[in-house]
Amino acid sequence: MPQTNNPQTTFSIHPVSAALGAEIRDLDLSRPLDPATASALVEALDRHLVLVFRDQTLSDADFVRVSGHFGPLDKAPITENGRLHAPGYEEVYVISNIMENGRPIGALGAGESVWHADMTYLETPPYASSLYALEVPTEGGDTGFLSMFAAYDALPEPLKRRVEGLSIKHDSTTNSGGYLRRGFAPPVDVATSPGTVHPLVITHPTTNARALLLGRRPHAYIPGLPVAESEALLDEIWAAAVRPELAWHHRWRVGDLVMWDNRWTMHRRDPFPDDQRRLMHRTQIAVPAGRRQTVAA
Ligand code: SIN
Repeated sequence: MPQTNNPQTTFSIHPVSAALGAEIRDLDLSRPLDPATASALVEALDRHLVLVFRDQTLSDADFVRVSGHFGPLDKAPITENGRLHAPGYEEVYVISNIMENGRPIGALGAGESVWHADMTYLETPPYASSLYALEVPTEGGDTGFLSMFAAYDALPEPLKRRVEGLSIKHDSTTNSGGYLRRGFAPPVDVATSPGTVHPLVITHPTTNARALLLGRRPHAYIPGLPVAESEALLDEIWAAAVRPELAWHHRWRVGDLVMWDNRWTMHRRDPFPDDQRRLMHRTQIAVPAGRRQTVAA
């Protein structure tokens, strides 16, 4: 197994699937990380796109400290239930189906969340996100991850040529759970509804590997095409690219921390029984100053 050594800590890296993901073992995140360990973890995230740390016992302060080694933290976003963050930590977003005093304590409920990357409706989408499991259901609620490099590679050659140079509009009205974001009207016409246009194919700034930047399927649009043609092409791309064999699904245990690179992956969540509790704390990491973001292919 590949090992990373430094004066204070030794951890080992164990890939969890062919496409992406690695489990980091022998690292207690509740203890301060020395700079060499922190930069080895950033490198591991670059290489494996998803990192899994099992059996952690973290306070919100620990979670914020660990996440902060990867870049500046965004504030919790405004969700369908308002801005729901952990008490005292505006950077710690709560994802949960738990109700307290008749009100949801978190976002996304118990339903499915469709394949998506976070906040790609922004000009500069977040670099990474991290989930820490506090309560998990006995069935369902797994989170799947998909490499967008593998998704691009999976396109047949004629489709690769067809998508070259195209852009895609990322819808800003609805979240991954299908809930309307506060302040938006339901989209009527995808050609005119609000969103941000990005290149459909992007390249990694150092390896030049190509990846698809799909964001999410609902209300997406390829500018310049008639809506019916855009819908048909997007359906074709999604069918070719979003394949079970390219994805890896994490089965949660309490104490798991999972971090993913939001630029080169998409994720989704299975639904779970609403009479079971699921409580996750989440941080979102902005692109650190000086780090090159994606570039158009
Ligand atoms: C998310 O889409 O960020 C939430 C994923 C999850 O709840 O597992």
